Amino acid sequence: MKLLICGGAGYVGSHMVRHVLEKQHEVVVYDNLSTGHRASVPAGATFVHGDIGDAARLARVFGEHRFDAVMHFCARSLVGESVVDPYIYYENNVGNTLTLLGAMRHAGVDRLVFSSTAAVFGHPVSDTIDESHPTAPINPYGHSKLMVERVLADASKAYGLRSVALRYFNAAGASCCGTIGEAHDPETHLIPNVLKAVLGQGKGLKVFGTDYDTRDGTCVRDYVHVNDLASAHLLAIDYMAKNEGAFTFNLGNGEGFTVREVIAAAEKVTGREVPHEFAERRAGDPAVLVASSQQARDALGWRPEMARMEDILSSAWKWHLEPRY
Ligand code: UFG
Repeated sequence: MKLLICGGAGYVGSHMVRHVLEKQHEVVVYDNLSTGHRASVPAGATFVHGDIGDAARLARVFGEHRFDAVMHFCARSLVGESVVDPYIYYENNVGNTLTLLGAMRHAGVDRLVFSSTAAVFGHPVSDTIDESHPTAPINPYGHSKLMVERVLADASKAYGLRSVALRYFNAAGASCCGTIGEAHDPETHLIPNVLKAVLGQGKGLKVFGTDYDTRDGTCVRDYVHVNDLASAHLLAIDYMAKNEGAFTFNLGNGEGFTVREVIAAAEKVTGREVPHEFAERRAGDPAVLVASSQQARDALGWRPEMARMEDILSSAWKWHLEPRY
């Protein structure tokens, strides 16, 4: 297969590119490098510097290559930033996605895997979240992703576009060889911040909120390894070969860890103390987000291979000890 991976220089996207190349598929990465890193794109991929909002550039790329499918990882993804500056989120995550979809339609490419998020659920009303759980985002980031899911459902009926939206819970970990990993600026995610704290980097780890209604008062999240997210995307492409429509699947391991538990596990994996302090709650954080991914297992045949917190943390730790970008 020949795949266009938009956002392939980003954290999840670059792990996707690696996975696809390992399976001997051809890849063109299309990325504006606003948050991604050129150095994270593996050598076997063709790299095009471009923005998905640039219709002319996209048309050239679709004119030069015959793609079997597109994977779309380009998005702004900071919840707090989306509250402060929602226009950027709607413009980039929704408006520019429409430009990409238009280019696909024009080129006759009818299969898309879209990166969605657990943020579409807002404050969950049940302990584990399956695909039938109501969607009620509590911030513009979640709304922007849910809007695209709506667009994809309509595009399926109107234009026959086949799509799979994968709702990631907490993407974490790094490639097993330590060459690519999670490097955001600013870094807001728990696991990289924990590991940076171990190394004395960053501004010091703050635990946001100790008064949640959870087993130890800190938020519970379902961490899923980036390589397992990548394998689900390729399975989604196979799924679309046999199934017409717009589909959504949750991707998580079904097990929640509190912030304190992640810190304790990191101390075990690194053999070092994680210096931290307790702080106020962070705006927009639901207390508990844990996935049921049964549908992804049943329909896609997805089997996460790095589900243990120790494996997720040790792969991330390997990267943080020697980051390449
Ligand atoms: N946390 C800290 N300190 C930090 C960073 C995070 O205590 O320095 C806490 C957060 O408050 C939260 C948990 O650790 O309770 C996980 O936070 P992350 O920032 O790592 O991840 P989120 O759960 O906020 O983010 C994920 C996805 C988003 C999605 C969001 C929905 O990455 O794409 O869930 O709530 F929008």
